Amino acid sequence: MEGDNICILAIESSCDDTSAAVIKDGKVLANIIVSQAIHAEWGGIVPELASRAHHQNIIPVVDKALKDSNIKKDELNAIAYTGGPGLMGSLMVGGSFAKAMALSLGIQTISVHHMKAHILAHFIDKPKPQFPFLCLTVSGGHTQIVLVRDYLDMEVVGSTIDDAAGEAFDKCAKIFGLTYPGGPLIDRHAKNGNPHAFKFTKPRVDELSFSFSGLKTAVLYFVQKQQQLNPDFVKQNLSDLCASLQFTIVDILIGKLLTASDKFKVRELAIAGGVSANSLLRKELDELEKKGYNTFIPDLQYCLDNAGMVAMTAYFQYLKKDFASLDFEPKARWPID
Ligand code: KG4
Ligand code: ZN
Repeated sequence: MEGDNICILAIESSCDDTSAAVIKDGKVLANIIVSQAIHAEWGGIVPELASRAHHQNIIPVVDKALKDSNIKKDELNAIAYTGGPGLMGSLMVGGSFAKAMALSLGIQTISVHHMKAHILAHFIDKPKPQFPFLCLTVSGGHTQIVLVRDYLDMEVVGSTIDDAAGEAFDKCAKIFGLTYPGGPLIDRHAKNGNPHAFKFTKPRVDELSFSFSGLKTAVLYFVQKQQQLNPDFVKQNLSDLCASLQFTIVDILIGKLLTASDKFKVRELAIAGGVSANSLLRKELDELEKKGYNTFIPDLQYCLDNAGMVAMTAYFQYLKKDFASLDFEPKARWPID
């Protein structure tokens, strides 16, 4: 596959990061990401503000990706964009830009599934997993265990029945008075805390299902009760609260991944999506190597939303001539399989 001269510009704008990447011969040459700080003051993503920020950022981000990769527009064979799932207004900015640029250059467009892209981020750098492998995809909107049979052949074998893991991190962070997105802040505070200081009960659901909304409510009631006794409870126990919450979420995630591993007799285990940036989750997965599993963790720049993963996926789609028509409509919801 390598040495085939295929050159693709990819755009990711599904949520609150505007990103552009260039891939040539299956190698990502540039991956530019601009995050939108504006949402922090609102305690969550405001869709219209996200669309507006994408609109402002997209041209400079694309320009920089082309410049850093030393690729001229007329060298491009296709323009890829995230077609969904995601926020409709955000998806439309990236999709419309990609279609217009491809039309002006007379080249194809490729519409990429955001969650497939998170998984295929594993093929950007070595070591690369062997098929079939199981990927725990954990982000702000998704929590799934995906059986990956081939680059573009994936089956969801487990998923959340309510909140996503990233949502649990973010909502609990809000209860602790932390700003959005709270996941990285919980990770940071947890480093100085005791993971066994507080015990939060794990939900009882089917063997491969996840549920995080009960955990969020349990944390809320626990904190409210403690604050009645001591108004400074959160301030005085922030590190321990973060460490205990993080321990509980990671314990649930790793436990389910191991259940899937037993069930499908697959010992190649990967993690992907924004929550795969979590230091405890990375450490716990890595520890499984000692027990005979082969584990795969993407480089940090390819965990959070980024166009590098979209470019990698687009490359595999290009090889299969899986192009999008110009009337492709972005999909807010889009099953992986
Ligand atoms: O994949 P992503 O960038 O966007 C979506 O597609 O949702 O994931 C964002 C999610 C947020 O919920 C964020 O809090 C979480 O990933 N996250 C983390 C960490 N870094 C990002 N959660 C826990 N620990 C982290 N270090
Ligand atoms: Zn994502």
